[in-house]
Amino acid sequence: MGVIAVCNQKGGVGKSTTVFHLARAAVVAGKRVLVVDLDPQGNLTSVMTKEPLADDDISLADALSSQTRERLADVLVPGVWPGVDVAPTVGTALGAIRDELIKDGPGREYRLRESLAQVTRRYDLVLIDCPPALDQLTINGLTAANGVLIVSQSKLWSTNGIAHLLATIDGVQRHFNETLGILGVIINLHEAHTLGGRFWNDELHAAGEQRGFRIFDPPIPKRAVIADATEASRGLDEWGGADAAALATIYADYLKELEGTP
Ligand SMILES: Nc1ncnc2c1ncn2[C@@H]1O[C@H](COP(=O)(O)OP(=O)(O)OP(=O)(O)O)[C@@H](O)[C@H]1O
Ligand SMILES: [Mg+2]
Repeated sequence: MGVIAVCNQKGGVGKSTTVFHLARAAVVAGKRVLVVDLDPQGNLTSVMTKEPLADDDISLADALSSQTRERLADVLVPGVWPGVDVAPTVGTALGAIRDELIKDGPGREYRLRESLAQVTRRYDLVLIDCPPALDQLTINGLTAANGVLIVSQSKLWSTNGIAHLLATIDGVQRHFNETLGILGVIINLHEAHTLGGRFWNDELHAAGEQRGFRIFDPPIPKRAVIADATEASRGLDEWGGADAAALATIYADYLKELEGTP
C-alpha cells in the first residue's frame, strides 16, 4: 500500500473524513499507520491526535521548513488509536511554509518526500491528507506518494475539477515522481435517491472507464453518523449500531482493494 496522497482541490468533498476512516480500517486490520496532515487548516489533526495540541506546538511545518532543524520523527505524535501516529498541523505554521515554498527554488517539491523517507519503514501505510488546492503543498504530497486517491462528490462541479487534478497529477508524474499511480476515485457524500446523484455517479464511472482508473464501489453515502463519528474521534466500528457498522465495512473493503494494488 505504501504512501497514499488523498486529494481533490475542491473543498469539503471528504478528504479528511476519508483519511480518518481509512486509517481506522487499517488499525483494525493490525497495520501501523502514519497520517500526515498536509492541510494548513489542520482539520485532521484536531480529530486524530491522542492529546489536543496547542497552536504553537511543534508540527509538520517545522519538519518541512528549510529554516528549522527538526526532522519528521521529532514532530510525530500518537494518534487516537494505538498503531497510529500523526504528523500534525496546528496554528498558522503550515500556511507560512506554503508561502515559503512558492518563493523557494529547485527541490521544493521534494521536501515532504525527503522528510518521510526517514520514517516510512516504521509503517505499513502512510496517508497524506492534502489541502483543497493545487498548490505546492499538494505537489509535495503527490511527489511523496506512491499512489493518489481522489475523493469526489457525485456532482458536476467535482467531476470537472477531476480533469484539472488529473492534469496536475500528470505534471507531477512527468517532472517529479514517475512512478506515482492513480489508485482510483472514492465517491463520497453520495445521495443515491437523487437523480443528480445517480447521474453523476454514472458519469464518473464512464470517465473512470475511459481513463482507465478505478471507481471504488459502493460509494460512501451521505450519512450524519459519518460526520458525528469523525468529530467525536471515533471509528464507525466503535460507534455502535448496524448502519455505522455497515459503513465501517465499506472503508475496510476499500482498504483491502488498496492492498491488492502495488
Ligand atoms: N459521507 C459523509 N456523510 C456525511 N457527512 C460527511 C461525509 N463525508 C464528509 N462529511 C462532512 O462534510 C464536511 C467536509 O468533510 P471533510 O472535512 O472531510 O472534507 P475535506 O475535503 O477534507 O474538506 P477541506 O477541503 O476543507 O479539507 C465535514 O463536516 C464532514 O464531517
Ligand atoms: Mg480536509
